[in-house]
Amino acid sequence: MSPIATGVSPTTTGTANLNGGDQVVDLAVAGQHTGPALADVPALDLFSLAGKAVIVTGGARGIGLCIGTSLLEARCAHVYCCDVLPEPNAEEWAKAKLVARRFGGKISYTRLDITNVDMVNEAFEQIYEESECEVSGLLAAAGIQQMIPALDYPAEDFRRIMDVNVAGTFFTIQAAARQMQKRQIAGSIVMIASMSASIANKGLTCLAYNTSKSALLQMCRSAAAEWGQYGIRVNTVSPGYVRTAMTDQLLAQRTDLEEEWLRGSMLNRLSTPDEYRGPILYLLSKASSFTTGADHLVDGGHTAY
Ligand SMILES: NC(=O)c1ccc[n+]([C@@H]2O[C@H](COP(=O)([O-])OP(=O)(O)OC[C@H]3O[C@@H](n4cnc5c(N)ncnc54)[C@H](O)[C@@H]3O)[C@@H](O)[C@H]2O)c1
Repeated sequence: MSPIATGVSPTTTGTANLNGGDQVVDLAVAGQHTGPALADVPALDLFSLAGKAVIVTGGARGIGLCIGTSLLEARCAHVYCCDVLPEPNAEEWAKAKLVARRFGGKISYTRLDITNVDMVNEAFEQIYEESECEVSGLLAAAGIQQMIPALDYPAEDFRRIMDVNVAGTFFTIQAAARQMQKRQIAGSIVMIASMSASIANKGLTCLAYNTSKSALLQMCRSAAAEWGQYGIRVNTVSPGYVRTAMTDQLLAQRTDLEEEWLRGSMLNRLSTPDEYRGPILYLLSKASSFTTGADHLVDGGHTAY
């Protein structure tokens, strides 16, 4: 296996020999990891996940399962969905199975509570051990939401949100990064944060949720800084409002919210889970080989107002 560079030869110390050429070298890639020279990969193929496997938490429904399914369309060989629910949503799972058959990939389901650190480490060890292909990606999409006025927030509810959205997410990215480091996989970790990490939602009382999601932005930067030396990239995606079971629940509690949300969107609409396929595929694939430690707002312009 040889180190890769975009069109030039890296030296043994991992620095690049530019040879007077005018091509740009990706030192992180050149110094550490193997694979085809990226400059020779046709642009659309940079997004292919052929021969790779990806773990998706929150993979029983909603954004997690939608994106998991779309990874199969990008030729991912195996998508490992994990979620605390006993089984995935029947309708969405049936669709995922159809897509797997059509594109020749596999999708499987493991019941996993991400707040249980031992279970997370065990489940990930098992997935990495048994996978026939390199598990190069993790999408950490599991999360919970609650709308309670801050003055009334019960301590146990606040702790629960932090436990799932912050500690649980950390346990999953740590378990994945441990496996990647041990197996010398230049992997990509993507956490679903939220635009709520960067704003106070008007008319919404989601202090604990917003606080938990902003913690992910810092977790992303710090983990990326520590794990970059292993070629492991860490990024967050921050969606705007998405129509899923999570938001349906909020809208059922407060029917006036939808109008408020629409006013905040420059595109004057809410988003759908499939609109996150492109950004997340970019981050999980070679297309984003020099992207790490960054938050990616996909919010219909909401936070720009
Ligand atoms: N829907 C939105 O508008 C929106 C906006 C921004 C960010 N997000 C984030 O996107 C992610 C997916 O949300 P969604 O809208 O698809 O909601 P969802 O409720 O449909 O999906 C979340 C999944 O996480 C799982 N989960 C919860 N606790 C868990 C635990 N302890 N262990 C393992 N799995 C657990 C749930 O069972 C569920 O399947 C969440 O992190 C959410 O905060 C959603």
